[in-house]
Amino acid sequence: MNAHKQFSPFARLLHWTMAAMILAMLFIGVGMVSTVSERYHTLVTIHRPLGIAILVLAAIRLIYRLMHPAPPLPADMPGWQRLAAHLSHIALYALMIALPLVGWAMLSAGAYPVVLYRALHLPAILPPDPMLYAVLRQTHRILAYLLFATFLAHLGAAMLHALIYRDGVFASMAPGRGKAAIE
Ligand code: HEM
Ligand code: HEM
Repeated sequence: MNAHKQFSPFARLLHWTMAAMILAMLFIGVGMVSTVSERYHTLVTIHRPLGIAILVLAAIRLIYRLMHPAPPLPADMPGWQRLAAHLSHIALYALMIALPLVGWAMLSAGAYPVVLYRALHLPAILPPDPMLYAVLRQTHRILAYLLFATFLAHLGAAMLHALIYRDGVFASMAPGRGKAAIE
């Protein structure tokens, strides 16, 4: 029962690759700001290029998504749940794009080089401005915690669909054919 359609293999590949990258970035970021040792530099060396890779993938994903609609949600799903799913997905897309952009802008305003790998640097997107740097640093932190909170709600909803409702919503994004989630 519960016939459903899945997101395309490309959409699912992007979803799970980016989920791993974004969760790693949240922990790398928290690790960075909670250390005073040399480890800060090791972590920030990973944080910058991984964040920019997320920005590029998020842009590709957003364009792809606008061209390929999501599979329909179950017909009997209450309106408020549809709205919550829709709004939280918009929030996740917005944060996947805003966070790396704010990170890049923050380093630019702080007059720090935006190093991707060795001599490969990105150009500054803002002029040096210490006040703006301070505001953007705070913004980067708030957006990161907002992303983490939205992700937790998303994970909770996904688990509810996978384990309790078993309505094919989880299977629509599951790697492979997601048979385990369908009764
Ligand atoms: C999805 C992408 C990103 C996520 C999830 C993310 C997440 C985080 C988190 C959780 C922190 C710690 C915040 C705190 O508690 O103060 C942080 C700090 C930082 N992020 Fe990101 N970040 C992303 C992208 C970027 C990018 C693209 C750059 C730069 C090119 C960047 C540069 C930094 C820097 C320099 C810090 C340390 C700020 C400080 O020393 O206070 N981030 N990030
Ligand atoms: C690791 C745990 C995760 C699980 C179990 C999970 C599960 C799912 C499932 C089942 C869907 C499809 C159902 C639906 O339309 O609501 C989905 C969609 C989505 N997920 Fe996740 N997800 C996870 C992590 C993430 C992360 C870390 C992000 C980004 C920060 C994310 C962003 C999205 C977005 C934007 C959609 C909507 C897809 C679209 O309509 O284009 N997910 N997720």
